[in-house]
Amino acid sequence: MTETVNQHGPVTEWGEKDNLLGPVVVSAEEIAKRVAELGAAISSDYAGRAPLLVGVLKGAFVFLADLARRIDLPVEMDFMAVSSYGTATKTSGVVRIVKDLDIDLTERDVIVVEDIVDSGLTLSYLRKSLLARSPASLSICTLLKKHGQQRVTFQLEYVGFEIPPHFVIGYGLDVAERYRNLPDLRIYLGSEPE
Ligand code: IMP
Repeated sequence: MTETVNQHGPVTEWGEKDNLLGPVVVSAEEIAKRVAELGAAISSDYAGRAPLLVGVLKGAFVFLADLARRIDLPVEMDFMAVSSYGTATKTSGVVRIVKDLDIDLTERDVIVVEDIVDSGLTLSYLRKSLLARSPASLSICTLLKKHGQQRVTFQLEYVGFEIPPHFVIGYGLDVAERYRNLPDLRIYLGSEPE
């Protein structure tokens, strides 16, 4: 890939959408440091247990891959995919499970791994649905939490970064499936997808 420059510095060549890449909100180095801290905290909190990491596709796949390698325990992993009724960025709070888990949650210590909590409606729904499957415990580990945006409150046991309420891309987060492979988290300068 060729390097190019936009008003926020050098960026990889992303075609006609380069000018939509905004400033870095969290750098790859900061993410790596924080993911290591979260992994250490989980390793200590779950010492002697084998938690099941439940990744919420697709956004959490990069975070989960890095986090899992920072947890010094015999973790297992499974994934689910959800789609919310509403627009792409404004969830209605009603979530449809598009791909369900393969592993039974009964008596498991479950850690839900999510990319970002915005209104919180998606996770709130998911949390209730997973709690109904009788896990031994359930906690949530989210990389990002948008400041002041939550419409529902529930406990977030592990939070990577609290960020201002901008639309962000990179490190797994997308706009119309693009930008997931950006190593940093950046503000998206285009209009939010409806
Ligand atoms: P919530 O239900 O409002 O908390 O929305 C959570 C979901 O919306 C996340 O899992 C993402 O898929 C998506 N989302 C919310 N904010 C952003 C963002 O800034 N960038 C990319 N996706 C986002």
